[in-house]
Amino acid sequence: MASLLLGAVISILSKSSNAAPSHVHRSCIDLDLSVPVTANNSIYDVPRVDNNIDAVDLIWDLDRWTAPATADRITAMKTVQQTFTISVQLCVPDDYDDSEKANILQIATHGFGFDKRYWDSELRPEDYSYVTAALKAGYSILTYDRLGVGNSDKPDAYEIAQTPVEREILKELTVLARSGGLTAAAASSTRSNKTFEVPDFNKIVLVGHSLGSRLTLGVLSEYGDIVDGAVATGLILNGRFGAVGQRAFGLEYAGDSEPRRFRERGSGYLVQGTESSVQQIFFKKGYFDPEMLKYAEKIKETGTVGEFVSLDAVLEQPAPGYSGPLLFALGEYDFAVCEGNCTGSYDLEALKNETFFNAADVRVHIQPGSGHALTMHSNATGHFEAIFEYLGENGL
Ligand SMILES: *[C@@H]1O[C@H](CO)[C@@H](O)[C@H](O)[C@H]1NC(C)=O
Ligand SMILES: *[C@@H]1O[C@H](CO)[C@@H](O)[C@H](O)[C@H]1NC(C)=O
Ligand SMILES: *[C@@H]1O[C@H](CO)[C@@H](O)[C@H](O)[C@H]1NC(C)=O
Ligand SMILES: *[C@@H]1O[C@H](CO)[C@@H](O)[C@H](O)[C@H]1NC(C)=O
Ligand SMILES: *[C@@H]1O[C@H](CO)[C@@H](O)[C@H](O)[C@H]1NC(C)=O
Repeated sequence: MASLLLGAVISILSKSSNAAPSHVHRSCIDLDLSVPVTANNSIYDVPRVDNNIDAVDLIWDLDRWTAPATADRITAMKTVQQTFTISVQLCVPDDYDDSEKANILQIATHGFGFDKRYWDSELRPEDYSYVTAALKAGYSILTYDRLGVGNSDKPDAYEIAQTPVEREILKELTVLARSGGLTAAAASSTRSNKTFEVPDFNKIVLVGHSLGSRLTLGVLSEYGDIVDGAVATGLILNGRFGAVGQRAFGLEYAGDSEPRRFRERGSGYLVQGTESSVQQIFFKKGYFDPEMLKYAEKIKETGTVGEFVSLDAVLEQPAPGYSGPLLFALGEYDFAVCEGNCTGSYDLEALKNETFFNAADVRVHIQPGSGHALTMHSNATGHFEAIFEYLGENGL
């Protein structure tokens, strides 16, 4: 869809640093994109969450052994036809004429618990920023705040902020990038007179983390022919996935948990209550700097009841239209996805046969010494290099 309109808030950030020699010079632009979507959401029979007592009881409702499957809670379909404001950051390598990969755009989708800074840590970016590493490797990269998070729109947490809508947003961003729409977006920048040159993106690689990987795989299933390469980090199917229930997240009602940041989000917005809850899902002791755990807790973000009940709505559908390469990159000790040990926890052959049967080179990389938040562990740059090496081997 070429009709994506642009919001007014656009600024150009040209960050460079002489102090940290390994910190790549970067050209980035922040854009508020208006993204129109049509999506098939559902109405679920699920309790409302308006305080912490409701939040704890939601877990009872979802995780008790006699609880109905989420698919059996659907009472009606809900077609969403709406335009959302999505906050994106587009970065291109400096002097990209010299770089053969600047025409490859990576679109990175963060998971539950963070905003786009999952990919672009402000804490020691040379050690933890995937954006910095991607630019250094020559790629262009777009990161964005998912619906309900950060600077993007925060719609109704039950009927609107669900995974089908979020998958359509990722699809629309992909279509926009392919059609040259980001050039127009950057050109109508109103806040600065400096021209921001956007390369002609001829290849699109989708990269996801956790929930962002679900959305990425969901796009491969429905719209496989618009994607040239994909990396699902912190997620694999056909394994122990789902065994750690919602109870492990330590969720609270966001408006009560941190009123200063989250009160206006309203009913149905949830957040991890403590630093320890964040550690439980995202970190493995011995392989992270406690300062990074503090940072992760500081920048933690919300999720919605609608997302939690619609998690399976975009997953495990065959992707006959996708013929590009697909890498699953997992943290060795990922608790959320592999129940603490990713080694040998999945069935790659079944995944190839049943879901990604037309994809090229479906592979798994297990990142040693990492929990679920792969960009936040001490060897994050090893994780990044493994991804770039895989893409390089596949001509991307
Ligand atoms: C929504 O459902 C209709 C009817 O099943 C289908 O034709 C359409 O492709 C679906 N749209 C999306 C975006 O999934
Ligand atoms: C942009 O250019 C106009 C006209 O030359 C000038 O008035 C304005 O201050 C400039 N804005 C910025 C942000 O540099
Ligand atoms: C992880 O699982 C593998 C077998 O799949 C086993 O060899 C290894 O010891 C396990 N690691 C831990 C920490 O449990
Ligand atoms: C996958 O397909 C291959 C070739 O058809 C077959 O040999 C193998 O048994 C299948 N594996 C699984 C796990 O389904
Ligand atoms: C860091 O990650 C890379 C890529 O996965 C790996 O080869 C290397 O052994 C890791 N280093 C340590 C110290 O674990």
